[in-house]
Amino acid sequence: MREVAIVGAGMTRFGELWNQSLRQMFVEAAAGALNDAGADRVDSMYVGCMSGGQFTGQEHLGPLMADQFGMTGVASVHVESACASGGVALRQAFIEVAAGVSDLVLAVGIEKMTDGADVTNVLATAADQELEVYYGVTFPGLYAMIARAHMHTYGTTEEDLAWVSVKNHRHGAKNDKAQFPTEFTVEQVLSSSMVAEPLRLLHCSPVSDGAAAVLLCPLDQAKQYTDRPVKIVGSGLATGSLALADRDDPAFLDSVQKSGERAFKMAGVGPRDIQVAEVHDCFSIAEVCCIEALGFVERGKGGPAAKDGFTAIGGCIPVNTSGGLKAKGHPVGATGVAQAIEIFRQLRGEAGARQVENARLGLAQNMGGSGASSVVHIFQGV
Ligand SMILES: CC(C)(COP(=O)(O)OP(=O)(O)OC[C@H]1O[C@@H](n2cnc3c(N)ncnc32)[C@H](O)[C@@H]1OP(=O)(O)O)[C@@H](O)C(=O)NCCC(=O)NCCS
Repeated sequence: MREVAIVGAGMTRFGELWNQSLRQMFVEAAAGALNDAGADRVDSMYVGCMSGGQFTGQEHLGPLMADQFGMTGVASVHVESACASGGVALRQAFIEVAAGVSDLVLAVGIEKMTDGADVTNVLATAADQELEVYYGVTFPGLYAMIARAHMHTYGTTEEDLAWVSVKNHRHGAKNDKAQFPTEFTVEQVLSSSMVAEPLRLLHCSPVSDGAAAVLLCPLDQAKQYTDRPVKIVGSGLATGSLALADRDDPAFLDSVQKSGERAFKMAGVGPRDIQVAEVHDCFSIAEVCCIEALGFVERGKGGPAAKDGFTAIGGCIPVNTSGGLKAKGHPVGATGVAQAIEIFRQLRGEAGARQVENARLGLAQNMGGSGASSVVHIFQGV
């Protein structure tokens, strides 16, 4: 297996991008990644997108995006794993370079959610149709059940969850690509509109448009493109049951634990070696469950981590320095690649006001549905 590095990154702002179509967002992000690396070609592309068909009516994204990018003819394929589509696209690109099949591979995540589709129902196609959606459950509802289970088992409070949003909005206020670069107080979170009890508006990631792209090549060719490549040292993918009811403990995300263990094993490191992490906070409770499953805190101890400052910039393990899905936005297929970009910037010392000092190893965790798929990457500055 060859060693693999990221040598360039580009992304659109996240938000309601009414002036940009799916293909225009793709081109902006992809061109940003190639320009960043000073590259003028790619050998292959992976396009992570949850549901171009249902959100915009457009499928067959592999060839369409290659063509729009002026690269008609290159290998290009669409990758889908619900909200983990971007992270899985990155993993496919990593595997292709590591295997020696291609040298310059682009991983792009993309989603356009604000074109008028029934967003809640489209998202719900990633849940179990027969066991969950048929009965009217939505993603806010599923995560509300996870939150209730966590509160019941471990004593996590609504205030604990509110602090996750407060912390991520504080981080996101320093990110000019964020959809909501706005700070909120605990009181504002706790008095925002109820969406699915106990989750309120300010516990939820928003509905977003956006695209993000990274360019990968073998580490031994990276200096052609940049003097600060970032190595991908671990990659792990795991699945779990779609239906919450099929899980032994609905408050614990098995797939996140397994994908983390696989990535840590490949990298030869453990959770305590990581200095900065992006995790999948589609709802505040998700961040709590993810930091437990990844081993950053003990099982059941994730609730107070944000309130205690443990996961804030300046804390023991800064989590979601970009603002996370909560503040940066969550164009579902784009999220996994955008997380990798935040870690890429952190490890190169380019994160500006949200820079974590002396960050050498970073982790990005991206998941689909209520945790039925999870993908983890570990990155090292060179
Ligand atoms: C939370 C949610 C239901 C809110 O949708 P909504 O009630 O239609 O909200 P609106 O679009 O009408 O926005 C109402 C206001 O809140 C703001 N807003 C919307 N979502 C927000 C969010 N998540 N965080 C902060 N502010 C938000 C809007 O900008 C708007 O502000 P304004 O009145 O000042 O213009 C929606 O964002 C949602 O479904 N989020 C979850 C998405 C999801 O499930 N993703 C997949 C995860 S697995």
